[in-house]
Amino acid sequence: MPSNPFYYGGIIEDEYFCNRVEELKDIKIDMLAGLNTLIYAPRRFGKTSLILKALKELEKTDSVKYVFFDLMYLSTVEEFINKYFNALAKTLEEPTDKIINFFKSILKIRPNINVSFDENGNPNFSLVLGGEDIDKTFEEVLNIPLSFVKNGKKIVIVFDEFQEITNLKLESKLRSVLQLHSNKIAYIFMGSKKSLLHQMFLDKNRPFYKSVKHFKIKEINANSWKEFILSRYANTGKKIDGTVVDKILTITKGFPYYTQQFAYEIWNITQNEANVSLFEKALKIIMGREEDLFLVEYDNLTSNQKKTLKIIIEKNGQNVYDEQYLAKYKIKSGSLQIALKNLLERDIVDKNSEGYYLQDPLFEYWLKQMSKA
Ligand SMILES: Nc1ncnc2c1ncn2[C@@H]1O[C@H](COP(=O)(O)OP(=O)(O)OP(=O)(O)O)[C@@H](O)[C@H]1O
Ligand SMILES: [Mg+2]
Repeated sequence: MPSNPFYYGGIIEDEYFCNRVEELKDIKIDMLAGLNTLIYAPRRFGKTSLILKALKELEKTDSVKYVFFDLMYLSTVEEFINKYFNALAKTLEEPTDKIINFFKSILKIRPNINVSFDENGNPNFSLVLGGEDIDKTFEEVLNIPLSFVKNGKKIVIVFDEFQEITNLKLESKLRSVLQLHSNKIAYIFMGSKKSLLHQMFLDKNRPFYKSVKHFKIKEINANSWKEFILSRYANTGKKIDGTVVDKILTITKGFPYYTQQFAYEIWNITQNEANVSLFEKALKIIMGREEDLFLVEYDNLTSNQKKTLKIIIEKNGQNVYDEQYLAKYKIKSGSLQIALKNLLERDIVDKNSEGYYLQDPLFEYWLKQMSKA
């Protein structure tokens, strides 16, 4: 029995990866140029998978070395220094004894370096931070990658969930060091909190103002998904009706995580050929699973925010200040404006040239069903 050819959850690669051909090409050019970029997209949109695929492809051609650093769950400067040091040490140099000697030789502050090994024998490094000047140490650790720039090989450093740097109060210190790395090191600032990242990079009073290229990733288009899903089915000896794929894409709007989730669940219950009734069955399974989260999200909204979401859905995101709808939902235009601003700030709603829309297509579908009931 072949195993399920779809996957949803963490990072995906190889044959699980659909399209993103243009994005891959563009991001690789920017990496090789040493350009700093800002990449934001909603949660579960495929940011990490895309960046890692680009980096691995470049690594194969021996043109980059890269470091991937996640800022989520860091709570102090010391923690940043140590975790970042560990990420640098592990990816830039090997074997272990060489790493230690090398770092001792380049770090002026000469703190002790601790090494411990996990159950698989992989080393973990940390600095024993004592009385030394923490700002100086921070700066020195940030400058470590400079010592690895050689033979035209670019270093690419990815800061995932970068908006967290604000909580650590490191924004301006980080900027002042990184700006000296110019095109020798490409920094990729990544995250899912669009409104926070926008403020960081578009507000004149913030240290990172206009210091990066904005790289927006979009949904994967319907044709690519269709081809992908049909061929994954065919490869595993099953069939799927084209109308079923259309139904999936109408709900998920090409949002990567959900599209894979639907394809996965439908494949699981398909004997020979997936038809519309199997789609309905999978839809029930998925909604049943996601419902609790949606309820919590909905409960956390104010009554004006709830009304605003309903107006966005009913008006397809256009002319949301329509008098008729303001009257229908008993909301003043000023209150709608405030609610809309809050929904944008909380990354529940987003805006494009056509109007407002909910970031999460399944949450939107769930709300529509609720309103009908
Ligand atoms: N190019 C792609 N082709 C097919 N599926 C994809 C693609 N990119 C992402 N996915 C789907 O989305 C899921 C999440 O991908 P990934 O972890 O890369 O997203 P992310 O934006 O980094 O998420 P998070 O916000 O949780 O960090 C994957 O498990 C997969 O199901
Ligand atoms: Mg990610």
